[in-house]
Amino acid sequence: MDIIKLRINVANYDELVNLMLNCTKCKLYSTRKRVVPGEGPLNARIMLIGEAPGEREDEEGRPFVGAAGQLLTKLLGNVGIMREEVYITNVVKCRPPNNRDPEEDEVDACRPYLVTQILMIKPQVIVCLGRHSAREVLTMAGYPEKSVSNISSIRGKVFTARIGDVSAKVLPTYHPAAALYNPRLREVIEDDLRKVRSLINKSERGGILDYI
Ligand code: URA
Ligand code: SF4
Repeated sequence: MDIIKLRINVANYDELVNLMLNCTKCKLYSTRKRVVPGEGPLNARIMLIGEAPGEREDEEGRPFVGAAGQLLTKLLGNVGIMREEVYITNVVKCRPPNNRDPEEDEVDACRPYLVTQILMIKPQVIVCLGRHSAREVLTMAGYPEKSVSNISSIRGKVFTARIGDVSAKVLPTYHPAAALYNPRLREVIEDDLRKVRSLINKSERGGILDYI
């Protein structure tokens, strides 16, 4: 995948957000209420990537504010990560009708936004929440799709990724929605999240400084 060709040429983050808020590049634009670009500090060392906005997110325009999001915030807190210190977004920025899986054409259309977010924020660690996110991020980094499509076999593993000029560790885990009614999965996600801090290189600054 040619990451540099996917990168959107914007002067700064606000310009990128504006493009997302006005986007009509895939059919999800016609059914969404609000676009959910993502949120968090632009110099975050940790980036969390989910799948797609759900009902609450579509209403509020913010990622992970519904039940799965509240669980995510709690699991992060349990391992000593404040939600406010991480940047959170999704593979697609608009809600698929009835929370169906995002389709290939939608993921393709939305990819330049995610690529540009990664290139701006330059996270040291990317946590992929669920299989769609893991497949998207790891194929971006050049891993063969077949090797990264089974979330149960790749979760908790640390992948080294180069996406454009960004070097990051990628850690896939289960999606918190899957853990809502399954306490055992909650423990697995928590164990995976516990690894995140050890992957951070404290001597390196975060991204965005190149842009401001
Ligand atoms: N599920 C996701 O993948 N993302 C959200 O923002 C909310 C629920
Ligand atoms: Fe645009 Fe992405 Fe929303 Fe599709 S999902 S309309 S590509 S912002």
